Amino acid sequence: MKKHSLITLLLCNCFTLTALAETTEAPKLNPKLAQYHGAVKSLGGALMSEMKAALAAGGGLKAIEICHSKAAEIAEKISQEQGFKVGRTSLKIRNDKNAPDAWETEQLQKFEARKQAGEDPAKIETEIVEVDGKLRYMKAIPLQDTCLSCHGDKVAPESATKIQTLYPTDKATGFKLGDIRGAFTITENMPAKK
Ligand code: HEC
Repeated sequence: MKKHSLITLLLCNCFTLTALAETTEAPKLNPKLAQYHGAVKSLGGALMSEMKAALAAGGGLKAIEICHSKAAEIAEKISQEQGFKVGRTSLKIRNDKNAPDAWETEQLQKFEARKQAGEDPAKIETEIVEVDGKLRYMKAIPLQDTCLSCHGDKVAPESATKIQTLYPTDKATGFKLGDIRGAFTITENMPAKK
């Protein structure tokens, strides 16, 4: 009898420990968040390498053209690979097609408030939330050195002219280093409930 209860005790302890280990590990291993981080990295990385190649090949004007003709295409390709929609948006947009919807506007405003309160923009993101039957997630994009030539307050005149021609309603200049330029945004359809 004694032996039996000892075994029971040991077994119980083991299970409790395993359960505890699982709860403490869970936030790190959230597979959905890891997948979304991966998608954001793919899109950011792909845009960056296209831009660097264009800058090297033809300078700033070429890079603007490449952004104009390829940004949407690259986002579409990565969305198809991932199986959910990944794109970019902002409170001050260049391309009207990237305009935020109501939920995105609200998150972008919260991001601004968090930055004002001292949070590092590089770390600002939403949780994954369900909105109208879809999973949604956003991650802030901080403005870096390399962005200033096209989004800063001293855009070279020929670049400014080119941008104005391609985007007559452009609002995406005047940013400073460390500002939140916008955000990556993910929308995923939920599997149908049975
Ligand atoms: C060579 C010029 C150029 C540089 C450098 C550049 N961008 Fe852009 N950016 C553009 C153009 C052009 C668009 C519009 C793309 C489109 O039509 O979808 C754009 C669009 C965006 C958008 C999408 C929202 C919107 O306003 O339409 C974000 C976010 C963005 N840029 C962030 C950045 C960041 C962050 C950097 C630096 C890492 C950067 N950009 C560097 C030209 C540039």
